[in-house]
Amino acid sequence: MKIMKKIGVLTSGGDAPGMNACIRAITKFCLNHKIECVGIMDGYDGLIHQKAINLGYDEVNNIIQRGGTILGSARSKEFQTVEGRKKAHAFITQLQIDGLIIIGGDGSLTGAKIFSDEFDFPIIGIPGTIDNDILGSDHTIGYDTAVNTVIEAVDKIRDTASSHKRIFFVEVMGRDSGLIALNSAIASGAESVLIPEKNTDIEKLVEDIKEVHKGKRSAIIIVAEGDDAGDAVTIMKKVKPLLSDYDLRATVLGHIQRGGNPTAYDRIIATRMGIKAVELLLENKSKLMIATEGSKLVTRSIDFAEKKSPDTALTKLQIIEQLRTK
Ligand code: F6P
Repeated sequence: MKIMKKIGVLTSGGDAPGMNACIRAITKFCLNHKIECVGIMDGYDGLIHQKAINLGYDEVNNIIQRGGTILGSARSKEFQTVEGRKKAHAFITQLQIDGLIIIGGDGSLTGAKIFSDEFDFPIIGIPGTIDNDILGSDHTIGYDTAVNTVIEAVDKIRDTASSHKRIFFVEVMGRDSGLIALNSAIASGAESVLIPEKNTDIEKLVEDIKEVHKGKRSAIIIVAEGDDAGDAVTIMKKVKPLLSDYDLRATVLGHIQRGGNPTAYDRIIATRMGIKAVELLLENKSKLMIATEGSKLVTRSIDFAEKKSPDTALTKLQIIEQLRTK
């Protein structure tokens, strides 16, 4: 039984609102249990290049409401190499860290699993990505905030779209996953949504838009950035010749979706997951990922840290289809 005296935490991959709330919970819970807490800067790169800070109460005061991550984040290419991971392990040994908590997306959690296997080192993963595409968890930290950011923007676009009788193609994030697009589309009443999980049929899209536009002054088409037909501007150009009488516009929301104050939901799951991660390390558990299942927190093998299957997205798609104006 390994006694946890010092725990390390890092954030990796695309930052997500709520990561700071999670770092705060981990730090405070550790300190309240007389465990030292170390923050590794800039994701796995910080382990390789020896960048760490001691986390005390002062470092985590007033961060629960802040987007981004106070620890910085990166997508580390070096950590994908055995050489990089050896350097990372050497730094962990030097710091005398007994267990590590990784907050990040599927790539970051897969990296954690490989590292834990190679060095038999205790690791707990927390799903943090705006994309919500991690298998085994209903929600990831940051998704709720990102969806709320999108619907706030779409509500504004809708005002001007209906004033001018326009059709807007609104591009949202999700290179490999349409989940941001789908929930945003449902919550903003979008007329169509195009996602990477389903091939886009341009002719059907044109027919749908014509149908909707008979009865409505505007149409909003949400486009996930990874859609097979291209980005929002490309898709708009593809449909233009078939909708020559229509006024078309495209808006790319981009990285505003990654920033901003986390919603209550993201702060709460981040806090609960942070506490749970420390508890698991104290129980000498390793190679686990924390997940949400409905309103419950559950733990799963970190092997679950892969992308969700397309079915998760396709079932939501039906809601948009069922409510399209006829
Ligand atoms: O993984 C989160 C995410 O925001 C994706 O939705 C998006 O495709 C990607 O990161 C963008 O990454 P970057 O900020 O490195 O361009």
